[in-house]
Amino acid sequence: MKSHKTLLALALCAPFLLACTDRAADADAPVDGSADRPSTMDDGAAMNTTHTVTAAIGPDSPYAEGAAAPAREPDVIYVPTPEPVVDAMLNLAGVKAGDVLYDLGSGDGRIPIAAAQRFGVRGVGIDINPVRVREANANAEAAGVTDLVTFKEADLFEEDISEASVVTLYLLQSLNVKLRPKLLAELKPGTRIVSHAFDMADQWEPEQTQEIDGTRIYLWTVPAR
Ligand SMILES: C[S@@+](CC[C@H](N)C(=O)[O-])C[C@H]1O[C@@H](n2cnc3c(N)ncnc32)[C@H](O)[C@@H]1O
Repeated sequence: MKSHKTLLALALCAPFLLACTDRAADADAPVDGSADRPSTMDDGAAMNTTHTVTAAIGPDSPYAEGAAAPAREPDVIYVPTPEPVVDAMLNLAGVKAGDVLYDLGSGDGRIPIAAAQRFGVRGVGIDINPVRVREANANAEAAGVTDLVTFKEADLFEEDISEASVVTLYLLQSLNVKLRPKLLAELKPGTRIVSHAFDMADQWEPEQTQEIDGTRIYLWTVPAR
C-alpha cells in the first residue's frame, strides 16, 4: 500500500521535476526567439508569479556537440527573453553610448548583442554553460558585433562585474536576492539594473516597473555609498 502511494506521488511530481531540469545538454536556441517546447521557470514559494514561458530548446544543437559539461549545475534553466522584452529592457535601463552592459546568465547572448547593435555599446555576457557561450559567440559573429561583445564561461556569482554601467538579469527572484549584496558592493553608484520577470522580494524596491508582452520588467539604480 505504501509503495503504491510512493509511485503515485512520483508520477504526480514528474512533470515538475522535468521542468526544473536544465536541458543544457540538448540545447538548440534559435536567436529569433521562436519556440518549440514549453518549459517553466518557477522560483517556488519565493517567486512573485508563476512565470510560464516557452523555451526555444531542441535536441540537436550543433553547439552541444563536443562541448564540455558546465563546471557545476546551472542555478536556473535556459529560457530566452523574447526580443520585444529585450528592447524594452534596454529602453528601461536607458542604455546610451559609452555604457558597458553585463548580462548575468547570458544564454544565447541576445541582450548584449542587441545593445551593441542598437547603441554601439560594449557588452559582456557571463554564462556557466559552455553550450550557451558557444551559441552566443556564433550569434555575435552572425550579427557582426564581435568587436563589441565578449562571452565568458563562468559562474556569475564569482566574476568581477565592477566595470558594468548596466546589468541585465533573467534569473529567479531567489537568485536576484542572493546577488543583491554583490551588485551593491561591486557596481558603481548610478549603475542601472534591469530584471526580466523577477524582482528582489522585500529586499530592494524597484524604482520602476513596466508590463511588456505579458511579463514585467524591473529597474533599480545602485545608490551612492
Ligand atoms: C533564463 S536564462 C536567461 C538568458 C538570457 N539572459 C536572456 O534573457 O535571454 C538564464 C541563463 O543563466 C545561466 N546560468 C544559470 N546559473 C548560472 C550561474 N551560476 N552563472 C552563470 N550563468 C548561469 C543559464 O545557463 C542560462 O543560460
